Amino acid sequence: MRLGLLTGGGDCPGLNAVIRAVVRKAIMHYGWEVYGIKNGWAGLVAGDADPLNLNKVSGILPKGGTILGTSRTNPFKTQGMAERILENSKELGIDATIAVGGEDTLGVAYKLFKLGMATVGIPKTIDNDLGGTDYTFGFDTAVNIATDAIDRLHTTAESHQRVMVVEVMGRHAGWIAVHAGIAGGADVILIPEKPFLVDDVCDLIKRRHERGKSFSIVVVAEGAKFKHEGDVDGSLITQDVEMDEFGHVRLGGIANILGREIERQTGFETRVSVLGYVQRGGTPTAFDRVLATRYGVKACELVEQGEFGKMVALRGNQIIAVAMDEALAIKLVDEDLYNLASIFFG
Ligand code: F6P
Repeated sequence: MRLGLLTGGGDCPGLNAVIRAVVRKAIMHYGWEVYGIKNGWAGLVAGDADPLNLNKVSGILPKGGTILGTSRTNPFKTQGMAERILENSKELGIDATIAVGGEDTLGVAYKLFKLGMATVGIPKTIDNDLGGTDYTFGFDTAVNIATDAIDRLHTTAESHQRVMVVEVMGRHAGWIAVHAGIAGGADVILIPEKPFLVDDVCDLIKRRHERGKSFSIVVVAEGAKFKHEGDVDGSLITQDVEMDEFGHVRLGGIANILGREIERQTGFETRVSVLGYVQRGGTPTAFDRVLATRYGVKACELVEQGEFGKMVALRGNQIIAVAMDEALAIKLVDEDLYNLASIFFG
């Protein structure tokens, strides 16, 4: 058996832990060969893959990023690319492929499975927005980084009596914002699931200042949406109009607009911090290392059992297999969690 392994989409803490786990389990337990495919699906389009061995994955467990490289390549965007993947897999002698990624990478894995390729998925993304699993690995690390940043920003907020607006990632889901916001004691948390009125945010900050607090922390998710009176959907702030190969716009910039508006309406000095890619970088937390390791081992077991078209998932404390298309349903922050967070607003 020759197993292919690739990482696709945005990099994310824990990818190397998964790679190590897959290689260890596949080689030591099953005696398979493992080929590391370079840069996500782009590697299979180009036929670019190299054998992995135990030495190549030794020492990578705590390292951020991915030794295989990654890309946001969508082979179904260009005619003939998916067929090239099937041909190249055959040429490389790859019998089954484990794809580690978010909705886009796993969406491709599922479509290729439908075309006859033996694929298994592992869910990763700092956004934690994949249906079918309680947690994706990478999320816990991102939340810890954002929480640490909020703790540090409290220093300046308090010393200078300022409002600090912190923008976090998460795409169209507010998981990072709501978890880091609760953990960091944010005074307002704004998420895509709850389009907001700037007036309401200013009222919460004013209420807090009226009761003697001279600073506030506002956590805003990059995909949060401004609403105007009577408007339900709100509008998204994007960095440019261009979309990636999967049709995603680049989000970001909402904190700057919001910060200006808060200062204008409240008169309180306001500063903005956009956390950006630091949330995806560096060493994974112990939780993410363990989750990634469990996912990697389970994915090999699915390959061994011939359970293709499946994704590994965490439900409660169990690692289970679910149909890969379940990953494609977006998982949003539930009302209860946001209501809990809002008890601490203002
Ligand atoms: O999906 C992870 C993520 O970091 C999102 O939170 C963010 O919107 C997006 O990727 C950024 O993508 P890119 O790396 O293409 O700029």
